[in-house]
Amino acid sequence: MAKYNIALCIFLLSLLYITHGQLENEKSKKRKSNEFDVLIFTQRWPLTACFLWKESSEKHSCSLPKQEEWTIHGIWPTRYHTKGPQFCNTSLPFNPSVLTPLKNQLEENWIDVQNGSDPYSFWKHEWNKHGTCAVAIKALNNEYNYFQEGLKLLNIYNMMDVLAKANIVPGQKYMVENMLIGIEKVLNKRGQIMCAKDKKTGESYVNEIRICFNKTLQLVDCDDIYEFPTNCDRFKQITYPSSVPHDRRVEQI
Ligand SMILES: *[C@@H]1O[C@H](CO)[C@@H](O)[C@H](O)[C@H]1NC(C)=O
Ligand SMILES: *[C@@H]1O[C@H](CO)[C@@H](O)[C@H](O)[C@H]1NC(C)=O
Ligand SMILES: *[C@@H]1O[C@H](CO)[C@@H](O)[C@H](O)[C@H]1NC(C)=O
Repeated sequence: MAKYNIALCIFLLSLLYITHGQLENEKSKKRKSNEFDVLIFTQRWPLTACFLWKESSEKHSCSLPKQEEWTIHGIWPTRYHTKGPQFCNTSLPFNPSVLTPLKNQLEENWIDVQNGSDPYSFWKHEWNKHGTCAVAIKALNNEYNYFQEGLKLLNIYNMMDVLAKANIVPGQKYMVENMLIGIEKVLNKRGQIMCAKDKKTGESYVNEIRICFNKTLQLVDCDDIYEFPTNCDRFKQITYPSSVPHDRRVEQI
């Protein structure tokens, strides 16, 4: 009987040892998993973002910027060939009052197209998901700096201007290849173009353009990021819309 008890004891102890080892492993994985290679700066075309929002429910309406312009989605710390890291630090809660000095600019240039949601929810989401990982970069080391840097990058790398320099303008259709080449010619670095597809018509709309920065915030090629260079249809033209696609209100007029 004692023999069995000793055996059981050894068995339980080794089980404890293994579980403990796994826990330690998980911890070190978690630490490492906050590391990243590049920062993706994502600009969105609000008319396409609005299209997607409206498609997801008939009840949805959009808030759009006053001017026709590209707006910010976020700055995303990213490891090559994958998404994330994300939600790196829950001890850095979003504080709306920090953004008071930037609010007017954010409402225009980092706009939440989803009308009716809590006024801070989009920014809170970007902060929790990406900002808490970006704090490892000095220029992005707190909430204020994260959002201010986004506004700064939009000023310098505004896709309206970049695309216009390559003669790419809203209201036209393009092969995505030509848009990618246009961006590369103007910026001297390769970016990424993401499309939204209209399931009913099969038509693709330019939705986001992403450019990449290294950890000292120098523009670099996006070559090694997930889904580089595009998820758009490469064999037919994609639309860079000048109004919200299939806007029901417009259609009714
Ligand atoms: C999370 O943020 C807190 C507050 O700044 C800091 O003390 C802590 O080290 C951070 N944790 C990680 C995993 O970076
Ligand atoms: C936004 O939603 C509110 C109701 O939540 C509505 O009254 C308003 O007209 C909407 N704005 C736009 C631009 O559709
Ligand atoms: C970022 O890129 C610039 C220009 O290519 C380079 O000089 C710098 O060392 C890079 N920084 C890092 C952290 O890789």
